[in-house]
Amino acid sequence: MKALLWQGVNELSVDEVPDPTMRNEQDAIIRVRKTATCGSDLHLLGGYIPFMERGDVLGHEFLGEVVEVGPQVREHKVGDRVVVCSFVSCGRCWYCRQQQYSLCDNGNTNPAITENVWGFAPGGCYGYSHALGGFAGSHAEYIRVPYADQGAFTVPDGVSDERALFASDAAPTGWMGADLGGVKAGDVVAVWGAGGVGQMAARAAVLLDAERVIIIDRFANRLQMAEKYLGVETLNYQTQDVGGELLERSGGRGPDVCIEAVGMESHSTGPQYLYDQVKQQLRLESDRPIAAREAVYHCRKGGSVFLLGVYAGLVDKFPLGALMNKGLTLRGAQQHGHRYIPMLLERMERGELVTEHLATHTMPLDEAPHGYNMFKNKLDGYVRAVFEPSR
Ligand SMILES: NC(=O)c1ccc[n+]([C@@H]2O[C@H](COP(=O)([O-])OP(=O)(O)OC[C@H]3O[C@@H](n4cnc5c(N)ncnc54)[C@H](O)[C@@H]3O)[C@@H](O)[C@H]2O)c1
Ligand SMILES: [Zn+2]
Ligand SMILES: [Zn+2]
Repeated sequence: MKALLWQGVNELSVDEVPDPTMRNEQDAIIRVRKTATCGSDLHLLGGYIPFMERGDVLGHEFLGEVVEVGPQVREHKVGDRVVVCSFVSCGRCWYCRQQQYSLCDNGNTNPAITENVWGFAPGGCYGYSHALGGFAGSHAEYIRVPYADQGAFTVPDGVSDERALFASDAAPTGWMGADLGGVKAGDVVAVWGAGGVGQMAARAAVLLDAERVIIIDRFANRLQMAEKYLGVETLNYQTQDVGGELLERSGGRGPDVCIEAVGMESHSTGPQYLYDQVKQQLRLESDRPIAAREAVYHCRKGGSVFLLGVYAGLVDKFPLGALMNKGLTLRGAQQHGHRYIPMLLERMERGELVTEHLATHTMPLDEAPHGYNMFKNKLDGYVRAVFEPSR
C-alpha cells in the first residue's frame, strides 16, 4: 500500500510499504477514507520529538471503513464506518477505568523510553514516534487498530465523513481542555492558538455555557473562522495588547480559565522569541513555552490553566512564582478521547459542533508532502490538510 513516511527532519516521502496485518485477536484493519494533519505532526516533522525512525508512517487523525476484524472484536463488523481515537487504550487497565485513557498502561508497547524521561509512560498514539508505541500512522491506505472495540467508534448516518473525521483528535482534545480546565457557566475563557485544537476548545467552552470566550492568534483567516463558525471573540496578539484586552474583557479580573493550544513551537513578537529559539536550537531547552507563560501570567488569581499544546521535556523561565502566589491550578494531558467521542458525535449530528471548516485543503495522499509544507508554514490559509488515501 501507499503511505506517507517520515524520512528525517523536514523530509517526507510517499512510498509503497507492506499492508498492515492482524497481530492480535482484538485488532481491526481499517481502510482509511480521510486522514488529517495535526499541529502535533509538525513537532515530529521539525525533529522536536525524539525516537522517530526513517520510514515511520505519520498520521493519527482518521476515519475509514472496517475491512477485517479479529475474533475478539464484538462492537464492529466489516463495512462499518468508524472514526478512531488518536490515542491507543486498552479500556480495561486502572487508568482506563478512571477514564484517563491517554494514560493507559497497555497502550504503549515501548514504555521504557518515556519511563526514563518522565517517570511513567503515557499510552500509545498512532504515528507518533517509538516513544509512544511506534504504531504505524493513518496517512496510508490501511491501518491496524489495536483494541478496536475501545478505539473505533461507529459514525452515525447523519454525520458526514468531513465532520466526523475531527472526532478522532481535534474535537476531543479541545473538549478535554474545557472540561478538565473546569469551564463553568458564566466563566470568561481565553484560548491561545486558533488551530484545529484551539478552535475546538473554544467551541467546547461556548457549549459549556462560558459567558465570554476569547481566542488568540495572529492569523486573520483563523480568527475570522473562529468568529464565523464558533461564535467566539478574537484577539490578534500581533496588533493588540493581549494582557490589556483580557483584563478589559473580564471586568478587570482576568480570565477564569486559560487554555493553551499552541505547544512547544510557540511564536511571539517579543524578545523572548529569539531567546527561546536560540535555546531550543542549542538543545538547552526542548520546548518554547511562550503561550504557556502568557496563560499563567494573564490568568485571574485562583484560576485554572490547561495545557493542550504538546511539550516534550524541559522549559526555561517558567513563571512558577506567579503560579504559586496566584493560587493557580495547572493541568495538561494528551487527549482522553474515548471519554468524549460518542457525546461529540451526537453533538455533531445535532449540528451543535461543526468541524468541516477546519479541512481547508483536501487532496490525494500523493500530494501530502506539499500539504505538510503548506500547513507547516501556514500558507494559503491552511488550517488542516486532509488526505484521501483510498485506491
Ligand atoms: N493534548 C493533546 O492530546 C493534543 C492533541 C492534538 C494536538 N495537540 C497539540 O495542540 C497544539 C495545537 O495543535 P493544532 O493542530 O491546533 O496546531 P496548529 O499549528 O494548526 O495551530 C497552532 C496555532 O498557535 C498559534 N500560535 C503560535 N504562537 C502563539 C502565541 N504566542 N499565542 C497565541 N497563538 C499562537 C499559531 O499561529 C497557530 O495558529 C500543538 O502543540 C499540538 O501538538 C495536543
Ligand atoms: Zn493530534
Ligand atoms: Zn488501559
